[in-house]
Amino acid sequence: MSPNMLRLRTLMVGIPLALASLAVSAQVTPPGRTLAAQCAQCHGTNGNGPGFDEIAGKSAREIYNELLEMKSRPVEGIMDRQARGYTDEQMRLISEYLSTLPGNGGD
Ligand code: HEC
Repeated sequence: MSPNMLRLRTLMVGIPLALASLAVSAQVTPPGRTLAAQCAQCHGTNGNGPGFDEIAGKSAREIYNELLEMKSRPVEGIMDRQARGYTDEQMRLISEYLSTLPGNGGD
């Protein structure tokens, strides 16, 4: 078999494998989604209300920093208690997931 034929054969085997793994990864639930479901009761199903402040459509860093601040400041409001229920890693996953949701332009 010529080197070119060999390369072609490798390609033909490789492409369906790559597509199959893409299809599998598309079905995996984003890691922060289940955690963020807890936020829906107050911030709406997709973080867009109706309810309290809109939390979708912000950058992951912005949401994460807000959660970190709420977790570390003295407990005054609802969110300070909410934030204390999560590890920093969980808050990072939640923030990453929420940042993928489109906001509706409100706050
Ligand atoms: C029991 C109701 C409740 C739940 C559950 C809740 N929140 Fe909140 N959240 C609030 C309220 C009320 C405010 C506005 C007052 C405040 O900042 O404390 C707020 C504010 C926020 C803000 C600040 C928004 C801004 O624009 O300043 C962020 C970010 C936030 N919440 C994220 C979350 C995340 C992430 C979750 C889930 C882990 C969550 N919240 C769960 C009630 C809730």
